[in-house]
Amino acid sequence: MNRDPHLTQAQNTNATLMARRRAAMPRGSGQVHEVFVDHALNAEVWDVEGRRYIDFAGGIAVLNTGHRHPQIVEAVKAQLDRVTHTCFQVLAYEPLVELAEHLNRLAPGSSPKKSFFVTTGAEAVENAVKIARAHTKRSGVIAFAGGFHGRSMLTLALTGKVSPYKAGFGPYPAEIFHARFPSTLHGVSVADALASVEHIFKNDIEPERVAAIIVEPVQGEGGFYVAPKEFLQALRVLCDRHGIVFIADEIQSGAGRTGTWLAIEHSGVEPDLITMAKSLAGGFPIAAVTGRADIMDAPNPGGLGGTYAGNPLSAVAALEVIKVFEREQLLARAKQLGARLEAGMRAIAHRHPVIGEVRGLGAMVAMELLEPADHAPATALTNRLVAEAARRGLILLSCGPYANIVRVLVPLTASDAILDEGMGILAQAFDAVAG
Ligand SMILES: Cc1ncc(COP(=O)(O)O)c(C=O)c1O
Repeated sequence: MNRDPHLTQAQNTNATLMARRRAAMPRGSGQVHEVFVDHALNAEVWDVEGRRYIDFAGGIAVLNTGHRHPQIVEAVKAQLDRVTHTCFQVLAYEPLVELAEHLNRLAPGSSPKKSFFVTTGAEAVENAVKIARAHTKRSGVIAFAGGFHGRSMLTLALTGKVSPYKAGFGPYPAEIFHARFPSTLHGVSVADALASVEHIFKNDIEPERVAAIIVEPVQGEGGFYVAPKEFLQALRVLCDRHGIVFIADEIQSGAGRTGTWLAIEHSGVEPDLITMAKSLAGGFPIAAVTGRADIMDAPNPGGLGGTYAGNPLSAVAALEVIKVFEREQLLARAKQLGARLEAGMRAIAHRHPVIGEVRGLGAMVAMELLEPADHAPATALTNRLVAEAARRGLILLSCGPYANIVRVLVPLTASDAILDEGMGILAQAFDAVAG
């Protein structure tokens, strides 16, 4: 007889839940750690067996304000007692308008802004492209190698990494092209990257038919490569020259992660459109497109929307996130925390030459593992490191085209004590796997 999962919850272990998950759910939706969470608070999680972990993954960049920030939980509880869903296109509610006002104010540059909401990052990117196409009446889009923009068909087309994201799912929407993303470590200069955009104009599509260039100011999934500011500034000039919409995908780098509300602010560039999601609402699903009002108004009424788009629970959570950032001065904290993480990683790198580079912007910090002899990606070692750290109570995530980069997305609200404890585990795990 089948067991009733609700009745047997007390006997759950990670192994029994893993077996049920494997039987009931497809393997295509992966799972980094074979751990099932029972509860979480700020930068700590406890699994169903009562084990405690320090969370350096933050639900993949969603928890800049930590798990269950009390202020956010209170606001959502209050909203639960008022209204949870109407569909904003049917009956509207103030918190979403207020959120738009805040995001418009927080977006860089002097031109008037408007914001539109959906539920996931991929949806925000899809809609940014729709808006850019409606505004320019052009079709082409240029994205960058290694970039990640989501798992829907259009955003997979924009994503610059085949395995595991794109393999087997094509064909993809047409008129998407990939330029190179600069990386000093891998010998791609800003000039090389800009030349690759010019090659696209020469080889693939004339600039007069390009609607948008979409770029992550810091590549997230792609490996925490920071776009040099002169690169972003040159892209801005190029977009202006050809009437192309500049889209900054800030879904991973935004919401205060890098020490400014948006990572693009470090460059002084005003993008035309910005996509945000993840940490925007501290664990509740909402995504935004914010941009120049004249561009945002290009689609006709009814052209944008979604049943759950801008859910009221997520809207009040996002409003609290903005307040928490101000009250707890989390932008300044992101810079301090990033410096502390970088120093800790550099200390480990001193003992382990397999760490080819420690890099980051604010609290978006990573280390890339390369075989010292030939600079080949040390993917197997990275996997062992991530597993060993989890065994010792630290949740890590890898990233990059070869999954040989360890990224840290610990909540900005984590105390120095938790941070140092996590870095201590990272160092011990490194010593254990790299000898
Ligand atoms: C830069 C970037 N864009 C888009 C996405 C897609 O967001 P979602 O998974 O919410 O659809 C992600 C997710 O990792 C991302 O990092």
